Amino acid sequence: MKIRFVTTRMAGFAALTLFAATIAPAAENPLGEREYQTRCAMCHGVAARGDGWLAEYLLQRPPSLRQLKKNNGGVFPFASVNQVIDGRKAVKLHGPRGMPVWGTVYSMEQQMANEARSGVSSADEQLVRAKIRALTNYLSQLQE
Ligand code: HEC
Repeated sequence: MKIRFVTTRMAGFAALTLFAATIAPAAENPLGEREYQTRCAMCHGVAARGDGWLAEYLLQRPPSLRQLKKNNGGVFPFASVNQVIDGRKAVKLHGPRGMPVWGTVYSMEQQMANEARSGVSSADEQLVRAKIRALTNYLSQLQE
């Protein structure tokens, strides 16, 4: 399956960028912007218009992420966007989906990094959530 292949490759890529990404761009939300540009832009587009380079190869088209507030009656839906990005709960309820499950990707990265450092495979759930929160905040800044 094309999507599964891409998702697996991305988990490896994601683990590499965890070590490589030490230079944060000057922005209001550098963590959110960096995570977005390295993890999401290939599908959702650099400016979140749903036109990333990978988009045309996917079975399901990634949507623009600039209309989330507009589509929710002018209020940015923080909690549900956070849930969609994390994905762990949604997948348990509804099964597989077109978007990678970032809660699992971040958690796996954490485990690998900790194992490499200390030999103990453990994930810090607070760090996983902090990244997802930063992404949600970053998206809230892009709304039209
Ligand atoms: C492999 C391509 C791909 C990547 C990478 C990706 N997404 Fe998605 N995303 C999708 C697809 C496809 C959908 C729509 C279908 C679905 O929900 O599964 C989607 C849906 C979404 C939605 C729901 C939009 C709505 O209208 O309700 C949000 C929010 C979102 N993505 C955020 C992100 C964020 C943040 C990242 C990076 C951490 C990301 N996506 C990375 C493919 C991707």
